[in-house]
Amino acid sequence: MAAGATKAKTEDEGPIGPTGRPYHGFPTPPHLDSHGPARIIALCNQKGGVGKTTTTINLAAALAGYGRKVLAVDFDPQGALSAGLGIQTHEIPTIYDLLLDGKRPARDVIVASRVENLDVLPANIDLSAAEVHLVSEVARETTLARVLRPVAADYDVILIDCQPSLGLLTVNALTASHGVVIPLECEFFALRGVALLIETIDKVRDRLNPSIRLDGVLATMYDPRTLHSREVLERVVDAFGDDVLETVIGRTVKFPDASVAGEPITEFAPGHAAAQAYLRLARELVARGAVA
Ligand SMILES: Nc1ncnc2c1ncn2[C@@H]1O[C@H](COP(=O)(O)OP(=O)(O)O)[C@@H](O)[C@H]1O
Ligand SMILES: [Mg+2]
Repeated sequence: MAAGATKAKTEDEGPIGPTGRPYHGFPTPPHLDSHGPARIIALCNQKGGVGKTTTTINLAAALAGYGRKVLAVDFDPQGALSAGLGIQTHEIPTIYDLLLDGKRPARDVIVASRVENLDVLPANIDLSAAEVHLVSEVARETTLARVLRPVAADYDVILIDCQPSLGLLTVNALTASHGVVIPLECEFFALRGVALLIETIDKVRDRLNPSIRLDGVLATMYDPRTLHSREVLERVVDAFGDDVLETVIGRTVKFPDASVAGEPITEFAPGHAAAQAYLRLARELVARGAVA
């Protein structure tokens, strides 16, 4: 059974999804006649390998496919988001240049991806030096917010792919954002460290960005055939209740394959269940009001 598929049918409620709630397909997002200003969402978890970058790429492509103007921000020195969208970053300006030079317009650095409606603010290893530079800056936590402000009007949604740490770059991402999506891998220890992440979000809300909210917890790499995957998802639902997004991303080798091809899965294998899952996630976030 694929993730997102139905688990059981009860007579009065209809099909039940993997999070234990009635299964919804979510309607196709309505057409937008005008664009912007963007809602900014950080994809955040200080644990590596939980699906932040994969989710940023594929959610961005799915929303772009629904006619949303999307900017994907690579905010990890690994540059995996840029690479996953087929962008070579060694000889082009990157987000690092924007963080360092407050006068440089973001439009100079933003590049179009091969996906219609999807632009990228690329990063490379230079970004690893940004933290050191920012530490001595005035208002060091709001640097990314200042970088994004002038281009927010051009997009419906800006997705920030955070690095796996709770350092100054991630605090910048949270300070710049309206919402956070936390991807959680359906593995043992998935919840370890999440309390610290929530604490960091609370601190940012308290001191820097009063309006930030949790847009949802996204279960990734779910394998319905293993008991432990199901148990972890159950525990995640116990901990976060309705904040757990109904859309669950199944584990599949199609994601590594698509990364190698430098394409979102919605382009690489549009018929695959994983592409359908990210399209459903896009519809769910629109239905929840997290995206226009
Ligand atoms: N649903 C999935 N099923 C199988 N592999 C996945 C899935 N999502 C991501 N991956 C793979 O797992 C690795 C880590 O994912 P990634 O998105 O880079 O995580 P993060 O950005 O949180 O470090 C990558 O090799 C990616 O291709
Ligand atoms: Mg990543």
